[in-house]
Amino acid sequence: MNEFTKIIEQWYAEHGRELPWRDTKDPYKIWVSEIILQQTQVKQGYDYYLRFIDRFPDVQTLAAADEDEVLNYWQGLGYYSRARNMHAAARSMNGRFPTTYEGVRALKGVGDYTAAAICSFAYGMPLAVVDGNVYRVLARYAGIDTPIDSTAGVKLFRQLAEEYLDKHRPSLYNQAIMDFGALQCTPGRPQCEACPLQETCVAFREGRVEELPVKQHKTQQTFRYFHYFLIRQGGQTYISKRTAKDIWKNLYELPMVETESAMTDRMTEVFAALKERLGTAAELEFRPLKQGVKHVLSHRIIVADFYEVRVPEGAVLNLGEKYLKVDIEALNDYAFPVLVNNFLRKYL
Ligand code: ADE
Ligand code: SF4
Repeated sequence: MNEFTKIIEQWYAEHGRELPWRDTKDPYKIWVSEIILQQTQVKQGYDYYLRFIDRFPDVQTLAAADEDEVLNYWQGLGYYSRARNMHAAARSMNGRFPTTYEGVRALKGVGDYTAAAICSFAYGMPLAVVDGNVYRVLARYAGIDTPIDSTAGVKLFRQLAEEYLDKHRPSLYNQAIMDFGALQCTPGRPQCEACPLQETCVAFREGRVEELPVKQHKTQQTFRYFHYFLIRQGGQTYISKRTAKDIWKNLYELPMVETESAMTDRMTEVFAALKERLGTAAELEFRPLKQGVKHVLSHRIIVADFYEVRVPEGAVLNLGEKYLKVDIEALNDYAFPVLVNNFLRKYL
């Protein structure tokens, strides 16, 4: 066996994490864990995984559930399309998880990486996983500065990953290299001083650890400005479901307006826009509650302002059909984006 492979596996025997999805060969549970871990750290995803599996222990249960309930179990994890895709995929399976690589790869929300992870962990298929951790470890160990997001880089790193894969124990090896990247050869401060690969690591020898891996495209960040209104009318408030093809599809939110720029210093304009939306002649009482809350998504930063609007109990609002009037006490029954949920927890 390759020296790299041997050392990685030895390291894992001593330092590997015991995680609930590593105790199982059930492809459904492994799938759930991999979808959660696509954009979420192990530490944060751990409890979500346990709760999700407790409520939806198999494909049949997930397929039979309401999408709203599935989203509710996902609330706080972000990237909700993962949950929607999982739910749709569960319904497409006819009660049985696919058993071939092609079948797994064809599931909604499953890409090359996730398919390789599921098939190697659940079925022992000799497939190398290539995720961010693997790119980083391989780029440093082999001293490769080809950008990981270039066509040449993708091909090169895949070849290298396959060369190092332990074909007899693909599951063990894949878990090992992932943990090695997450715990030892980390993005920020890799533990090179205590690293068993130190002697053969090209980046370490050449003092290039900080420079690797190389990425060609920096993700461009743009801003969006959301103004949310917590309307209080007696013990009730208004919410609506986001249905447009946009972030947070099918989650609930408070009535809002989006503006092209931050309007924090132009609140009267925001209030005028709201008043028009509410279509009421009633006297309204506006109060800013929280301004400039930043929420970072993969390509965007949402900047949110929150206002409280008190409306007399008898007043009629013409918000439109998509708004539900609900008891403030019952807001827990709805899944909101983290940004909104954090606000509600704090102010209610
Ligand atoms: N990240 C993605 N998949 C993982 C797994 N199976 N174990 C730990 N971290 C992961
Ligand atoms: Fe990563 Fe440093 Fe070990 Fe090289 S020596 S594999 S850069 S932790």
